[in-house]
Amino acid sequence: PAQRSFVLIKPDAVRRGLVGAVLSRLENKGLSIVAMELRQVNDELSDQHYAEHVEKAFYPPLRTFVTSGPSVALVVEGDEAIEVVRLLNGATDGRKAAPGTIRGDYSLSNRENLVHGSDSPESAKREIDLWFPGLA
Ligand code: CMP
Repeated sequence: PAQRSFVLIKPDAVRRGLVGAVLSRLENKGLSIVAMELRQVNDELSDQHYAEHVEKAFYPPLRTFVTSGPSVALVVEGDEAIEVVRLLNGATDGRKAAPGTIRGDYSLSNRENLVHGSDSPESAKREIDLWFPGLA
């Protein structure tokens, strides 16, 4: 069934000029872009977006990273979009992500891993409501 997922192209990808490469992979796969915006994430938005991680040891440097420059936020739509985006992104740790995935091809880091994608229908709804109210 058609689904919507939230995707964040993180500051490392913007700095490295990889926004187009990431968008091409999403578009080439057949996903539709429903919304897209360049956004400077602040501490408050980071804390809300990563609510499930704020108490974790890796969170403070993650927040520093995700607020370090502009990101591109988008909502994509397509058949089983949530799972499809996660497969395109690859494993969280770029060093372990399979070649052929976005992280596997372009990231050598567990933190600076270029993209975020919603991990479930519940998180997709929560994240779309947070970033693009009314679009979930
Ligand atoms: P993301 O899919 O955005 O979800 C949580 C983010 O936290 C993850 O991508 C990474 O950027 C980061 N992350 C997850 N685990 C770790 C870790 N062990 N060390 C550093 N960063 C992490």
